[in-house]
Amino acid sequence: MAEATALLADIAGVGADGRRGGYSRHGFDPAELELREWFTAAARRCGLAVETDRNGNLWAWWGRPGPDAVVTGSHLDSVPGGGAFDGPLGVVSALAAVDSLRADGFAPVRPLAVVVFAEEEGGRFGVPCLGSRLLAGTIDPDAARRLTDQAGTTLAEAVAGAGLDPARLGRDDEALGRIGRFVELHVEQGRGLADLDAPVAVASSILAHGRWRFRFGGEGNHAGATPIDDRRDPMLPAAQLVLAARRAAAGVPGARATVGRVLPNPGGTNVIASTVDVWLDARAADTARTRAVVEEIAVAARAAAAEEGCEVAVTEESYGDTVFFDASLRDRLVRGLGGVPVLATGAGHDAGILAARVPTAMLFVRNPTGVSHAPAEHAEPADCAAGVAALAAVLGELAG
Ligand code: GLV
Ligand code: MN
Ligand code: MN
Ligand code: MN
Repeated sequence: MAEATALLADIAGVGADGRRGGYSRHGFDPAELELREWFTAAARRCGLAVETDRNGNLWAWWGRPGPDAVVTGSHLDSVPGGGAFDGPLGVVSALAAVDSLRADGFAPVRPLAVVVFAEEEGGRFGVPCLGSRLLAGTIDPDAARRLTDQAGTTLAEAVAGAGLDPARLGRDDEALGRIGRFVELHVEQGRGLADLDAPVAVASSILAHGRWRFRFGGEGNHAGATPIDDRRDPMLPAAQLVLAARRAAAGVPGARATVGRVLPNPGGTNVIASTVDVWLDARAADTARTRAVVEEIAVAARAAAAEEGCEVAVTEESYGDTVFFDASLRDRLVRGLGGVPVLATGAGHDAGILAARVPTAMLFVRNPTGVSHAPAEHAEPADCAAGVAALAAVLGELAG
């Protein structure tokens, strides 16, 4: 019988990032394509029939596809240098839960499917939950096709390379219409369960969150030959933005603002950059608070740019309002699992995208380090097994 930790061990070598540590697996890159093949074979071993939808999401079916299917799953891609659990734990737990239901002689009344969403982290094309957004129709397919990775490859080219037709990207009512309920299992990305000393929780909500790109333009020049007074150095307002992000978020309870990626162009030690791109990730309890944080940062960035004689252009790359998961499904899961804790999260998930379309719930598995999006992310084998048992119980109840 498939066990979650054994399945994770199967893929431990795929996309391991020797330079950064952890894993770098991004939508439609060689590592993620290898994981897709691995998933297809593993799902077939569990007796599931695998298909790929128009947007590159994989579906493994137990029973005839839809309607009113009970769907579970997550993603196999990672952030750059990410942990082993964010995404894959939900996929392997789904396969293990199917196996354990089958071993118990369970026969689903409703169809059951395991889904793998493409490019959940946005680590390659910048927009998180890309596969689920395309499926749900919450991103314009033309804009999506034009998304570009750091090597200049467009999403259209990447999906074509994976054997999909880029013209067919976009809202997929047929695939969406099959989903009766969606439940995503995920490693917890904070210390909630560790502090409560419990292995599994049900999710209540996701913070509003988005990504913005600030492009500062100045004058590329020589680091030694250009007097300080003669410079228009875009790195100066970029640095001010980082400080403003911390200040703005600290002023709003529960808000978070992060600069995790900066790209000076051309990027030479002895070169004053001509442009600097800074990506801002901002999150808060609701849209008003999130927008207020971003606006405060933007005001500071514009003032800092003006002081240095630089230009600044701001682009919103993605945004999603606060998600409250379906209350009756949430309560049903809590009851069915004998009263497990209910936790909110600041992390985004495909479940957050689907929640706008279908009744959706999430299960979290304890992460003793509380660290995520980094190699220290962890879940103990016993807690992974508890997660599988919880997921199997939920799927059994919903599909039985
Ligand atoms: C994805 O995991 C995110 O919340 O950024
Ligand atoms: Mn993540
Ligand atoms: Mn994830
Ligand atoms: Mn995520």
